[in-house]
Amino acid sequence: MSASIRATLGPRAFRTAVVPAAGLGTRFLPTTKTVPKELLPVVDTPAIEYVAAEAAQAGADRLVLVIAPGKESVAAHFDPNPDLEAGLAGQSKDALLAKVRRAPGLIRAQVAVQRKPLGLGHAVGCAEPLLAEDEDAVAVLLPDDFVLPTGVLITMAAVRQRHGGSVLCAFDVPREQISAYGAFAIEDTDDPEVKRVHGVVEKPAPEAAPSTFAAAGRYLLDRAVFDALRRIVPGVGGELQLTDAVALLIEEGHPVHVVVHGGGRHDLGTPAGLLRASVDFALADPEIGPELRRWLHDRLRQETT
Ligand code: UTP
Repeated sequence: MSASIRATLGPRAFRTAVVPAAGLGTRFLPTTKTVPKELLPVVDTPAIEYVAAEAAQAGADRLVLVIAPGKESVAAHFDPNPDLEAGLAGQSKDALLAKVRRAPGLIRAQVAVQRKPLGLGHAVGCAEPLLAEDEDAVAVLLPDDFVLPTGVLITMAAVRQRHGGSVLCAFDVPREQISAYGAFAIEDTDDPEVKRVHGVVEKPAPEAAPSTFAAAGRYLLDRAVFDALRRIVPGVGGELQLTDAVALLIEEGHPVHVVVHGGGRHDLGTPAGLLRASVDFALADPEIGPELRRWLHDRLRQETT
């Protein structure tokens, strides 16, 4: 973020962070027959707790978890568990006690229910009735997209304060990978990290993509998005797409910018991505990292001999 943008950072741009967690998680079947994918751990901590921490760090004081019937355990992760806590306290297991208490202490969590998985756009729309009248923007964080290092929402809030409207997050990806993402049509601004968006296309063919700037799962959306969500029709995959609502806002002259994030990401929506994130985090863990590193070295040597 340029110094000029950072300097404009004033009062909080949003109070509510919406986390859509009502999807079917089919790429994790058979596990997701009974376990919501948002509760699958990276090392020992479920994905949903990482995004809650990120939202709290960016200034949100409320998490609206959009869940499907049957996925109540996602919200239960943010409830205290007095019996478990008393047991751990009785055995002086302080480190474990702190882990158990962390999620409920991070942020206040509330639930909105999406009865049918009609798409990400529809899921975000389910949060609208919980917003206060004076909330003119919300953050949306996809729990299966790990954006590292955390903190990009803080930059996005500063960009909204400067330019108004909605602010999204983009990664510059190799062209052959763009068809996995929403792709932005963009124009430069005076800040190399911030681009003005003219259009967004969901999952384009590489040769048809308007740029190699791919949407990441972090959004700071003006409240106008809810009105746009009511006016879109099912798009790619027959789902109500959030990107289609953003595209509609752009068409109607609403300012939309992206922050180009220079860090990394892990896709926790697939087994391979979750595994990579776990290895990445485990290697950085002082307790389990050194032994894992040795084991990986030995294991990879076997591959080459
Ligand atoms: P994904 O498409 O990655 O999640 O949606 P999914 O549908 O659960 O996974 P697969 O494709 O079947 O494996 C991105 C995010 O949007 C939420 C998902 O829970 C995920 O966090 N989502 C998606 C909803 O809340 N509702 C929907 O109708 C669709």
